[in-house]
Amino acid sequence: MTEVTRSRTTVGIVGGGPAGLMLSHLLHRDGIDSVVIDIRTREEIEHTHRAGILEAGSVDLLVDQGVSDRVHRDGYRHEGIELRFGGRGHRIDFERLVGEAVWLYPQTDVFIDLAGARERDGGTVHFGVTEPVVEGVTTPTPTLRFTDAQGEQHELACDYVVGSDGSRSMCRGLVPADVARHHFREYPFAWFGIMTEAPMSAPELIYAHSPQGFALISQRTETLQRMYFQCDPQDDPGNWTDDRVWDQLTRRTAGDGFELRQGPITEKVVLRFRSFVCEPMRHGNLFLAGDAAHTVPPTGAKGLNLALMDVKVLAEVLRRAVRGGEHSALDEYSPRALERVWKAQHFSYWMSSMLHTLPGEFHAFDAARQVGELTSLVQSQAGSRYLAEGYTGWPSQS
Ligand code: DHB
Repeated sequence: MTEVTRSRTTVGIVGGGPAGLMLSHLLHRDGIDSVVIDIRTREEIEHTHRAGILEAGSVDLLVDQGVSDRVHRDGYRHEGIELRFGGRGHRIDFERLVGEAVWLYPQTDVFIDLAGARERDGGTVHFGVTEPVVEGVTTPTPTLRFTDAQGEQHELACDYVVGSDGSRSMCRGLVPADVARHHFREYPFAWFGIMTEAPMSAPELIYAHSPQGFALISQRTETLQRMYFQCDPQDDPGNWTDDRVWDQLTRRTAGDGFELRQGPITEKVVLRFRSFVCEPMRHGNLFLAGDAAHTVPPTGAKGLNLALMDVKVLAEVLRRAVRGGEHSALDEYSPRALERVWKAQHFSYWMSSMLHTLPGEFHAFDAARQVGELTSLVQSQAGSRYLAEGYTGWPSQS
């Protein structure tokens, strides 16, 4: 029989993306040990392009908690966004409206910083594991079994297990059907995303409403840009030639003398568009965090920010339970995290429905109504501030 390595840890974390690694880092700062496992390799996670906007609170977490200050050096601070509609751009000035800003800093870099910090601090992270199994989440000693990348089998006894294993979460399935409520919303559109080797077209992000549908001009560096446009959920990236992509992006952002700078396209993807929440985010000694518990549509880039705020709350209640013996603190996790989750669900839904064109017979009415909504938003200090508050991120509730 193959030998099994048996060990113990306080918190077993399934999923080594930003949520799992940040949690492990925060627990380490509080003197609490954890082990992180992920079925993906470190390289796979590093090369998956995700969103690129961090709320001020997420940046503070990375910098103040000693993960890395690279975001301040390599990221771009954005004090506003542009809303484009009716062929004109309208700036929403976050700094003036709410005294806040966001940072353009891709999720892949957040992951690189967190994986680097865990390595620097001697954290145990197993990437590329196979056959992960979680058992006994309603017992005092849940166990995590897996085979590591070298083929060695492990059995890890934990006090708590955290499922930060993404939107296709295995851990979520451990919450029984009569306990979990799953809330879903599908949308009749998706996003076509490209990466292009082109110069920046604008100093800040542009969210464009147009008769052809939504477009978003985002960025990565001086020479690499990220752009998206609304497409059919069934679209195949292979059916889109570069010319067709540029034609759509150019039309959807036209007007005002705006010039979209083009370059070779290095990546084409179609991104799913859905809202999902699993309530509650805890079952016994199992806690769900990030995409495992909720997904938001991408408009407004809330996914990563929400995941980081989940684990900020989770680290705090685990510290109070483990270090202070205050077990009732764990009861706070789900309601506190869910308050922000539902605010972000609404914000992402609202931004999406305000900016995307709906297929169907009411299209003309809806498109004109959306322009009415956008016009009242940019003309109203209260409306603009509402957007600015949501986009830059609400203060975290303590
Ligand atoms: C990006 C993605 C978003 O969903 C968004 O709202 C803004 C920026 C990005 O990938 O850069």
